[in-house]
Amino acid sequence: MTQFNDAELTAAVIGSFDQTPNPRAKFLLQELVKSLHDYVRKTDLTFEEWDYAIDFLTRTGQKCTDIRQEFILLSDVLGVSMLVDAVNHRDRDGATETTVLGPFYVGEHKVTPHGTDVSASLPGERMFVQSRVTDLKGKPLANVPVDVWHADDDGFYDSQKPSYATQGPSSRARFVTDAYGRFFFRTILACSYPIPTDGPVGQMIHATKRPALRPAHVHFLVAAPGYEPLITHVFIDGDKYLDTDVVFGVKNELIAKVEKRSDPVMPDGKAAAAPWHLMTYEFRIKPGVGAAPKPMMAKATEDA
Ligand code: BEZ
Ligand code: FE
Repeated sequence: MTQFNDAELTAAVIGSFDQTPNPRAKFLLQELVKSLHDYVRKTDLTFEEWDYAIDFLTRTGQKCTDIRQEFILLSDVLGVSMLVDAVNHRDRDGATETTVLGPFYVGEHKVTPHGTDVSASLPGERMFVQSRVTDLKGKPLANVPVDVWHADDDGFYDSQKPSYATQGPSSRARFVTDAYGRFFFRTILACSYPIPTDGPVGQMIHATKRPALRPAHVHFLVAAPGYEPLITHVFIDGDKYLDTDVVFGVKNELIAKVEKRSDPVMPDGKAAAAPWHLMTYEFRIKPGVGAAPKPMMAKATEDA
């Protein structure tokens, strides 16, 4: 029988993974044990605190459903999502900056004709979004699928509302770039919104007096074969929460000036009720590989 002091215990647990056949899995598990044991030692963690942590993680798991991901939210508010993003995107080579995927990449992203109002059933100030996808040299890329999604005027994503079950997606769609790499659509002006606070992660944010808000943005996922998938947002310049984003996701390059316009027509020549807003942003993508994430609860038949 072996009796360990606390330093020997750490070495023994690390050693217990020595025969792991996959070298990367072995490395990840051994480093995880080191970091967890260091944390317990540094903090002199009490039984009550460890019980609390286990209960917190249990409640986090219990809050998850097919269309709600409380663990992604936890990773986001702890800055882990942005750190994983940073270590995997050290060299952008001029490609558009990336940011968090977030927990609302959900359900059907239906291929939609350019110009469609993806928020037609929703109240809010109207916005026209015009965009282009190019390679690093500025060459337009045709036939590239681009998924877009954003919150409504009350600060909720479609999947957070009871109407989602009967009415399906809103403020979300897929566009495919034309021969000039372009796509454009109508929607409502995105607004700042709080992350969900009715679960354990939100309770932690409130209990620690952190602001729960994200600055206004539209999500884009650009996925072209032969290129790194681009997961990003475009933030709206002037938003008062740009400096205090609860998930640390803002990058200067991703902030766009959204112009308030009063022209009687939008850029595609169709009539507009003034005033409306114009978001213009171009995406540059980088050659490479990597599978784009799939939306949660995507049906097996979707080509998402
Ligand atoms: C979002 O932008 O949809 C989001 C990202 C991280 C946490 C919560 C929401
Ligand atoms: Fe969002």
